[in-house]
Amino acid sequence: MPDVKISPSILSADFSNLGKEIQNLEKAKADLIHIDVMDGHFVPNITIGPSVINKLRKYTSLPFDVHLMISPVHDFIKNFADAGADIITIHPEATNDLVSSIKKIKSYNKKVGVSLNPETSVDKALSILSMIDLVLIMSVNPGFGGQKFMEETLEKVKVLRTEIDKKKFKTQIEIDGGINFENAKLAKEAGVNILVSGTTIFKENGGNLKKNIHLLRTG
Ligand code: DX5
Ligand code: ZN
Repeated sequence: MPDVKISPSILSADFSNLGKEIQNLEKAKADLIHIDVMDGHFVPNITIGPSVINKLRKYTSLPFDVHLMISPVHDFIKNFADAGADIITIHPEATNDLVSSIKKIKSYNKKVGVSLNPETSVDKALSILSMIDLVLIMSVNPGFGGQKFMEETLEKVKVLRTEIDKKKFKTQIEIDGGINFENAKLAKEAGVNILVSGTTIFKENGGNLKKNIHLLRTG
């Protein structure tokens, strides 16, 4: 099994101290920083926007893995590209024209992710797989940290892994929601390359970031 990358979700971090939290994640050997952007419309929660991301940029050289849960997303893509996102992930339901939004992200030389909610068919990603860098499989309904992992979403991971390997694509598979030390193993076995985790990384073992990242990676 190839090495998995860990993308801690700062949704579980101390929002009054995000710069320091991100530095701590880098010291704890995170590979990416997962930033959940929510608009209170596409999902029933509100988090942060491009100006905060831009202010955070100077605290780390780790890639910013920006998960946009906002709708309509298309006209905001430039704001997040300018703010310092490295990967911009969008949901198909949040744009009128998925292909045009993908092209827009690419036009800013950013990596493109497409995210599938638990009820969204894997076909949505299969049809555009050659155009994108990453598929983000939601293993909870987006909106909140701390929810229970939906194991049935691993079926989509397996379908994608087979297709990506068959076509020799470089597309990464990321999974997001309810990841803990037990199901991380199942996700890796199903073919995931990147694990997102908020609650497990920030709350388990007294909030020992380094230990929790290590356990997710190697467990
Ligand atoms: C949910 C977010 C996730 C979430 C993960 O909408 O996309 O990134 O913060 O948090 P945990 O690991 O607590 O499920
Ligand atoms: Zn997320």
